[in-house]
Amino acid sequence: MCHLLEGVALVTGGGSVLDINVVGLRETKDLVERIRRVDVLQLHVDLAEENSIISGVQRAVDHFGSIDILINNAAIAGAIRPSTDVATGDFGKIIDVNLIGLWVCQREAIKQMLKQDPIKQRIGPASRGVIVNLSSTYGLVSPPGGLSTPAYVTSKHGILGITKTDATSFAKDGVRINAVCPGFVNTPAIKEAARASPLVQDEEKKVPMGRFGEPEELAEVICFLASPMSSYMTGTSVVVGGSSSEEPGNRQQNPASSNTEKPNHPGQRNTDWDAPAAKVLSPSKLAHVVLRTNQLGPMVEFYKSFLGAKAMYENDMLAFLTYDEEHHRIALVQIPGTKDKDPQSCGLEHTAFTYNSLTDLLLAYRQRKQKGILPFWPINHGPTTSIYYKDPDGNMIETQVDNFEDADEATLFMMSPSFAENPIGVDFDPEDFIKRLSAGESEAELQRRQEIGPRGIPSFA
Ligand SMILES: NC(=O)c1ccc[n+]([C@@H]2O[C@H](COP(=O)([O-])OP(=O)(O)OC[C@H]3O[C@@H](n4cnc5c(N)ncnc54)[C@H](O)[C@@H]3O)[C@@H](O)[C@H]2O)c1
Repeated sequence: MCHLLEGVALVTGGGSVLDINVVGLRETKDLVERIRRVDVLQLHVDLAEENSIISGVQRAVDHFGSIDILINNAAIAGAIRPSTDVATGDFGKIIDVNLIGLWVCQREAIKQMLKQDPIKQRIGPASRGVIVNLSSTYGLVSPPGGLSTPAYVTSKHGILGITKTDATSFAKDGVRINAVCPGFVNTPAIKEAARASPLVQDEEKKVPMGRFGEPEELAEVICFLASPMSSYMTGTSVVVGGSSSEEPGNRQQNPASSNTEKPNHPGQRNTDWDAPAAKVLSPSKLAHVVLRTNQLGPMVEFYKSFLGAKAMYENDMLAFLTYDEEHHRIALVQIPGTKDKDPQSCGLEHTAFTYNSLTDLLLAYRQRKQKGILPFWPINHGPTTSIYYKDPDGNMIETQVDNFEDADEATLFMMSPSFAENPIGVDFDPEDFIKRLSAGESEAELQRRQEIGPRGIPSFA
């Protein structure tokens, strides 16, 4: 379909002509030049910066003299977590790139297109320019709960809004603007996610066509929308999701999306139970921890207080405690004959609970202190800033905040020489951190681990 395209095309992201990724830019240039005899200009542009976009578009116009096609492809996804775990700044970063950056590109391209003389097309009326915006099926519906990316989904919904609005405004000027809504497409990042996450693997099984799309299958639809073949289409979106409707396959199978539809039971899927598997399907999450105790009352009171939890059920033998959507996160069971804990024996070393921010971690620390619950070890491990406690039986509990934006960044740190030298961490004083936060020092600054050289595993038994 690409042979139908003529003129100057500006493509954001994908290591294409407008991208923040310099290596990707070079690779894409080499690839495109090998496939077709085209003149490629790489522009290092940050879509989070308005001036960077404006000057990038201007440099393209200075070089080629026009912009006939704009493919707004670049985007960032952000970490998978529900809104309650997303900081305002992180939400804003994604909106800045995916929605505002896309809109600025679109605005600057339209300004240029309106200056250009309409070009006669092989099919349809003369055109001043065409824009194709990359939204997503998550621009139409919500991902299932376990794949929640609120800012990404908001940006992809917003892209459809700005596509329709500007398409209507500039329809009579000969500028067409449409969007594509891909389902999962086998780009390297998605392949990696599918390898790592059973939730993503599950999504593939829910697609009516039974597979994720290939990048070429998406590219063909983008070329169609950018070509005169779609001359009577503007302000619309095309779903490329292996599904017969705009509803991705997961919609019917996500219990949270409807209270009338049946939940997806694994037995209802067309599963090949005997297919050879290199790896066992991982669970979707860790559900709870059950602790055996010989002092149920004090342990229940401690955990209620420590976690701000409540009992979903309790009697004189057991208690199920929760503080979130799970029916129980900690269960305590008093079995006759249970001996005191031997801290030197094998078994669970500690459980860990995550807070959304350093401020929350320290606030909980202060609130526990008011209740007489004191930590025994505050430490910046590198990937996390952590405060450790012991329960009345001597079980260790870590409370923590992630120091990095996402798991990838944390993994990179864990592969660094600093982590190899000191995989344990650096102690800190929570009271000192509270003082410094109150004085205006940033969370990020406090969470950056100061390097102290080699350190071994301490014993708290
Ligand atoms: N792959 C999928 O399964 C899928 C599904 C639905 C929608 N989409 C959409 O399709 C598009 C392409 O997806 P992909 O999988 O190829 O993504 P990708 O992550 O492989 O590529 C995104 C590109 O955007 C660039 N980028 C990121 N931040 C930037 C910034 N601030 N300034 C300039 N460039 C920046 C990156 O360098 C990268 O080259 C995206 O809009 C994505 O949301 C993809």
